[in-house]
Amino acid sequence: MMVDDRNFQKYLSRHEIDASVQELAARINKDYEGKSVLLVAVLKGAILFAADLARHLTVEHEVEFVRLSSYGKARTSSGTVTILKDIGIDIRGKHVLILEEIIDSGRTLRFLYDRLQASGPASVEIVTLLDKASKRVVEIPVKYVGRLVDDQFLIGYGLDLEEKCRNLPDIYYLKYPN
Ligand code: IMP
Ligand code: MG
Repeated sequence: MMVDDRNFQKYLSRHEIDASVQELAARINKDYEGKSVLLVAVLKGAILFAADLARHLTVEHEVEFVRLSSYGKARTSSGTVTILKDIGIDIRGKHVLILEEIIDSGRTLRFLYDRLQASGPASVEIVTLLDKASKRVVEIPVKYVGRLVDDQFLIGYGLDLEEKCRNLPDIYYLKYPN
């Protein structure tokens, strides 16, 4: 799929994204100094964010992935969340950081946060690159937010348009969402 200027408008440049990633990493490096951390990246959208954030982390960390049911082809959240791929380790006593690229209704993370909390970790915090805070339906404690964003459908840097365009280094919004 081509990124066509008639349909897409650049929203965040790769430089702005990188600045946010570095700020988040700096906060985490400070807050978790001397500790070991478990990063739980939410597939598929958080792959680019997780890879970039990890390269800026100086704190010792492991990485696990979880995949939850997504919007599929719809562009609005359906409400029900199921696990498609679970993490493969015991998280008891670990300091868990959930990595998400964007939070919309909050339903996905509410589900994952509660599930991880129930497994006896030392702590669980949420790190998101982008937050559509105005769209929140379900309360969730988000400690680390890269940027607040408007209620726009965004693509690039992990965010997909029907599974395409995740590779774009910059983030765009769709001018004509329908
Ligand atoms: P929530 O459960 O409504 O918070 O949905 C969060 C998930 O929806 C994110 O992890 C993304 O995968 C997806 N999502 C939310 N907003 C967008 C968007 O603007 N573009 C692409 N995917 C999005
Ligand atoms: Mg996601």
